[in-house]
Amino acid sequence: MKSHMLIVVSCAGAILTSFAAAQSPGGLPSANYIPHLGDIMGATQLRHFKLSFAGKLRNWELASYELDQIKDSLQDAVTLYPGIPVTDMTIMAEPVRLLGEAIQKKDPRKFSAAFSELTAACNGCHQAIGRGFIVIQVPTSSPFSNQIFEPAAKP
Ligand code: HEC
Repeated sequence: MKSHMLIVVSCAGAILTSFAAAQSPGGLPSANYIPHLGDIMGATQLRHFKLSFAGKLRNWELASYELDQIKDSLQDAVTLYPGIPVTDMTIMAEPVRLLGEAIQKKDPRKFSAAFSELTAACNGCHQAIGRGFIVIQVPTSSPFSNQIFEPAAKP
């Protein structure tokens, strides 16, 4: 009985080890992984949704988190894809700043105005960069039934 268990344990160990090897062919796993720009943008689209709903429902803590995620993704995009003209990315700076301010002040009207500006800036770059067919809009219905966007406590 005991040796049986040992075999099971060592098998699991072997599977984990080979999985780890597949994950990191050259050593450090994340250092070798460069996400496609389209994938960074896909993630940004999700965050754009979530940020919108967090703001709408006055979940300022979540809104702040999602805004940070968007900032990180945009930073990744310019760092990893220097082909993106910097001027197209700088049009994001002002709406991002205004959103940060609205979140800090917990001001739904300022948030909503800044969110529309952010969305226009997304499209501004898409148009400038020959991807005018990717049109982003302020979301109209909640995409995620698997996440709660209302704040735990009423703001
Ligand atoms: C500075 C330029 C720039 C900005 C700003 C920008 N994008 Fe993009 N986006 C691109 C480029 C370039 C592509 C095409 C990527 C590709 O073809 O690999 C793209 C593609 C996309 C796609 C298509 C991805 C897919 O798989 O369908 C979505 C969605 C998207 N962007 C959302 C956004 C959102 C939301 C914002 C604003 C929060 C935004 N983008 C801001 C440059 C930008």
